[in-house]
Amino acid sequence: MTRTCVGIVGAGPAGLVLAHLLAEQGVESVVLERQSRDYVEKRVRAGLLEHGTVARLERHGLAERLRARGQVHRGVELRFDGARHRIAYAELCAGRHMMVYAQQDLVADLIRLWIARGGAIAFEVEDVALRHLDGERPEIRYSRGGREERLGCDWVAGCDGYHGVSRGSIPPGVLRVHDHRLPFAWVGVLAQVAPSTEEIIYAQHERGFAGHMLRSQTVSRFYLQTEPDDPIESWPDARIWAELQLRLAVTDGWKLREGPVLEKSVTEMRSFVVEPMQFGRLFLAGDAAHIVPPTGAKGLNLAVADARLLAQALTRRVHASDSSGLDAYSEDCLRRVWRVQEFSSWMSWLLHRIPDATPDAELRRRLQRAQLEYLVTSAAARTGFAENYVGLERV
Ligand code: FAD
Ligand code: PHB
Repeated sequence: MTRTCVGIVGAGPAGLVLAHLLAEQGVESVVLERQSRDYVEKRVRAGLLEHGTVARLERHGLAERLRARGQVHRGVELRFDGARHRIAYAELCAGRHMMVYAQQDLVADLIRLWIARGGAIAFEVEDVALRHLDGERPEIRYSRGGREERLGCDWVAGCDGYHGVSRGSIPPGVLRVHDHRLPFAWVGVLAQVAPSTEEIIYAQHERGFAGHMLRSQTVSRFYLQTEPDDPIESWPDARIWAELQLRLAVTDGWKLREGPVLEKSVTEMRSFVVEPMQFGRLFLAGDAAHIVPPTGAKGLNLAVADARLLAQALTRRVHASDSSGLDAYSEDCLRRVWRVQEFSSWMSWLLHRIPDATPDAELRRRLQRAQLEYLVTSAAARTGFAENYVGLERV
């Protein structure tokens, strides 16, 4: 059996940021990842980072490539009724801006830097099982290349996302689970085409939400609202472009460029939180503990915020035998998580077509319309949106 101080399950943003921040403080860890390195470095997901997330990565020397290649953004465009409305969030929030940078590129940067600093990481691990979490000496068992391995740790960080094993290793009855499925889903599309916009577009349309997001000068990201459980086979490329053209249309001559679809998939939407984010010596971080609907672009940012708090708390415990940070970890994370849940849910209901089967559908549609009009006519409403969008720093 090998030993380490912190066993980290999952090499997503949460696990990798945690590993780096611990190493910086001289706390040893081992990262275990189910997928191959190539797979996690190519998995298409998020693309928008809050000002605070970038600042945090920068402070720890993890943002060099992100700074060089990411694009700074200061506003978004909201479209409805064929008109565009710009929200200049940076202006409304003392210059705090956002950064467009693909999640898989951030993951690739973090892995490269981790290996360069001599960090331990194992890819393609199978059958991960967590043992003795409520004792002094937890253990992670797994297999790799057909060999059984055991990793003894002082603490385990469950950073293995929504479908990981960590949360499920907590005995029944310990966690309070909040799980709400929204009546919307997204077809996410990556296309080989130059963006038709300089800023992210969120379009509310009677056919459903459409988003034009950004990646690079040659690749763009799009989202289209669909029904939950809709198979991707019902979205041939021609239908994707036709729907994007209809939902993003405006009356001032703007044109959407089309190009080859590189990748497409359907993502369901849920608001999910477990409380507390801890059991014994297991601490959950990121999507393992909470999922927000993707509309607000917050999941990765929350994952990095959790990792930072967990690194600080573990460091204090290891170096100063002070458990106060670990005792408060769950509560400290959940304050931000609930703020972001509220914003992401609000933004989702603001922008999606409300299906007929939704309770009080017609009332919800009227409320949605009132909110959209308030947002584009009131500076106070825009400031509220802006500070949530760029990320509240003191939650
Ligand atoms: P993950 O990234 O899921 O990483 C977990 C890792 O654990 C994975 O590598 C997985 O392979 C591994 N793993 C799983 N099980 C095991 C196991 N048993 N053993 C070992 N390893 C395991 N967020 C934003 O902030 N901004 C956005 O713009 C944004 N857009 C999004 C768009 C879409 C369509 C979607 C679906 C999500 C979006 N998100 C966004 C959310 C964001 O992608 C996630 O919240 C983020 O990936 C969470 O990071 P994580 O490290 O907690 O989990
Ligand atoms: C993305 O770039 O994938 C993205 C951007 C903004 C969102 C959601 C996703 O609100």
